[in-house]
Amino acid sequence: MNHFSIQNIRTILNKHKDNKTPLLAVMEELQSYYGYLPREMLIMVSERLDVPLSQVHSVATFYHGFSLHPQGEHVIQACTGTACHVRGGIHVLDHLKTKLNIQAGETTSDLEYTLETINCLGACAVGPTVVTDGKYEGHMTTSKIDHLLEKIEQES
Ligand code: FES
Repeated sequence: MNHFSIQNIRTILNKHKDNKTPLLAVMEELQSYYGYLPREMLIMVSERLDVPLSQVHSVATFYHGFSLHPQGEHVIQACTGTACHVRGGIHVLDHLKTKLNIQAGETTSDLEYTLETINCLGACAVGPTVVTDGKYEGHMTTSKIDHLLEKIEQES
C-alpha cells in the first residue's frame, strides 16, 4: 500500500485539471494508487476541485470500488444472499469473523485481511459462496474456510 503523500495527491489532481468533470477520474486514480480514500484525501479533493465535501463523500460511499478504509492484502467476500443463507452461509460468515477476529466490513490490524459481505455473488447454485481475492469458492463449509486460510498463509 502506498503512503499518503500530499505532493502525490496534488500531482494526480493536476493530471485531471483539463477534465471538465474530473471528480470520478481523480477518485478512481487515488483509490487505485492508495487502495483507499481517507477523509483528509476527500477534503483535499473537495477543496481543489471546488466540489462540496458531501458530494465527494457520497461518490466515495456510493460506488462499490471505493473504500474509505485501508484494505487488507487479501479481500474475502462472503455471500449473505438468500440462496447461500439457506445453505448455511451464516455459519461460514460467522466462522470467518471468528477466525479473522473482525466483523464484516473490517480489516485485520496487520492489514492482511478485509472481510466483506455481498448480497449475491451471482453463484447461487454453488452456495454458500465466498470470493477470495477475486477467486470464487463454492459449497463453502467451516472446514473449507480453515483450509482456505491455511493456503493463503502458506502462499504469503
Ligand atoms: S445468494 Fe449467494 S451467490 Fe447468490
